[in-house]
Amino acid sequence: MLEISKLCAGYGRIQVLWDIDLHIGENEIVALVGPNGSGKTTLLRAITGMVHTKSGTVNFLGEDIKGKSIEEIVSRGIAHVPEGRRLFPGLTVRANLELGAWRTKDTNIDHVVELFPRLGERLNQIAGSMSGGEQQMCAIARGLMSKPHLIVIDELSLGLAPVVVDEIIQQLPSIAASGTSILMVDQDVDAALSIASHAYVLEAGQLVLSGKAADLLADPRVQESYLGVG
Ligand SMILES: Nc1ncnc2c1ncn2[C@@H]1O[C@H](COP(=O)(O)OP(=O)(O)OP(=O)(O)O)[C@@H](O)[C@H]1O
Ligand SMILES: [Mg+2]
Repeated sequence: MLEISKLCAGYGRIQVLWDIDLHIGENEIVALVGPNGSGKTTLLRAITGMVHTKSGTVNFLGEDIKGKSIEEIVSRGIAHVPEGRRLFPGLTVRANLELGAWRTKDTNIDHVVELFPRLGERLNQIAGSMSGGEQQMCAIARGLMSKPHLIVIDELSLGLAPVVVDEIIQQLPSIAASGTSILMVDQDVDAALSIASHAYVLEAGQLVLSGKAADLLADPRVQESYLGVG
């Protein structure tokens, strides 16, 4: 459903991404990992039209979306959960969720509350007063409100306790199964590779490894560099 080919992108004259090839299938969870500054956020932003793409193609559901506006890309069904979550901190959880529905205009929140029951208990709470984990659940749920075909999630577990990360990650397979493919960036490489079917390793703006997540988990280079083994 998403097919990126030979993508080069960056900021002004500074090129950050070089010849990126990446594929995401229907109902699939794909993880993108790599060191700080390797270009993970830039790649997510290039997909959603927030970063200038220099060359290559980004094919989404059969059409090249490279160079299209953010609004155009989001309206085609890609949701972006940014680093830092970016909720409206002064609004309630319910209001944050309803704002996520601008694409479909369907403000029924049942499907996202079912995924994250903790949000259901807090619909009238001010979003900024929730814990970091609850805010991340709210940010993902807001992204899912528009029933996207693909959701990209940046730094899913940043700053969260492992037990909360587990709670969120456990829901990803049912999100993918219900028709929203997932591209996730996470510092917690172990957690990301344990839930994804395929993964890509980005270093200095270039993909250096890719394959089935289980194979990468067992790869000595991944174990040494990212899992502290060996
Ligand atoms: N707005 C910008 N203008 C110029 N350079 C930028 C901008 N944003 C990011 N960069 C540069 O692009 C490179 C990749 O940054 P990016 O944020 O994509 O990395 P990352 O892999 O997401 O890192 P982290 O793990 O720290 O989030 C870095 O060298 C960074 O300094
Ligand atoms: Mg980043």
